[in-house]
Amino acid sequence: MKSAKSKKKALTPKIFVANWKMNKSYDDSVLFARNHINDLAQTILQTGHTVIICPNYLAIAPINAMLGSSGPMLGAQNCSRHGFGSYTGDTAASSLAQAGCRYVLIGHSERKRFYAETSIDLEHKLKEALKAELIPILCIGESEQEHAEGRTREILEAQLAHQLEIINAAPTQPTTYFIAYEPIWAIGSGITPEPHDLFVIFHWLAEFCTRKSPVAYKLLYGGSVKPANAASILATKHLDGVLIGSASLEFASFDSIIKADLLS
Ligand code: PGA
Repeated sequence: MKSAKSKKKALTPKIFVANWKMNKSYDDSVLFARNHINDLAQTILQTGHTVIICPNYLAIAPINAMLGSSGPMLGAQNCSRHGFGSYTGDTAASSLAQAGCRYVLIGHSERKRFYAETSIDLEHKLKEALKAELIPILCIGESEQEHAEGRTREILEAQLAHQLEIINAAPTQPTTYFIAYEPIWAIGSGITPEPHDLFVIFHWLAEFCTRKSPVAYKLLYGGSVKPANAASILATKHLDGVLIGSASLEFASFDSIIKADLLS
């Protein structure tokens, strides 16, 4: 018979998105899935949480072939701003959906920084994601300087406003969209915002999204989420989950982040 502890369900289902970036090879991505899909499915059953893995493009289809209906789901780290055609090296949102993705990250700060993605690119990508019926995970966040100048809210508002208009005007409105607030200065730095600052941002984000769009949304935080800080970050009011980079690469740390509220 199972103990009462092992039966305990998390009080509020949360969302955990693993962004592997280009940190795992094709072989390592497939091996991670082969070794840990069942363990993750078990954790999902135990906690009631949602888990989404964003591997590199090539690993999406083989990992999808290993997934069951109640385990983790797949997301893409990016998609083309075009729907179809002669765009050498690009991958369309519709192909990502066909390969097994249900989600797509749009506008991660590394895409803006290393590939000069503009807000116009992101708007096209969002439209393509919606056409392909992928749930967009809109990444937003301010730089260290903007943070120091107290301009966070103004920056986030500018990044989001037009994207929400696109969601509202979509021919087929999505059932939901996600926003991942990732302060650029927190990504990979080991630094996270103070709990009160997170509270203020997410309180504002919830109010802003409710006011600007009738579509349901989920709010995530990303940037140096680790097993040691996950429970306190997840306790932030209005926060529905986290987007995890480096701490999602090893199963043990990813799993303990997902179980943070059970372990705390
Ligand atoms: P990090 O990355 O968890 O390694 O800071 C987060 C992200 O870039 O999404």
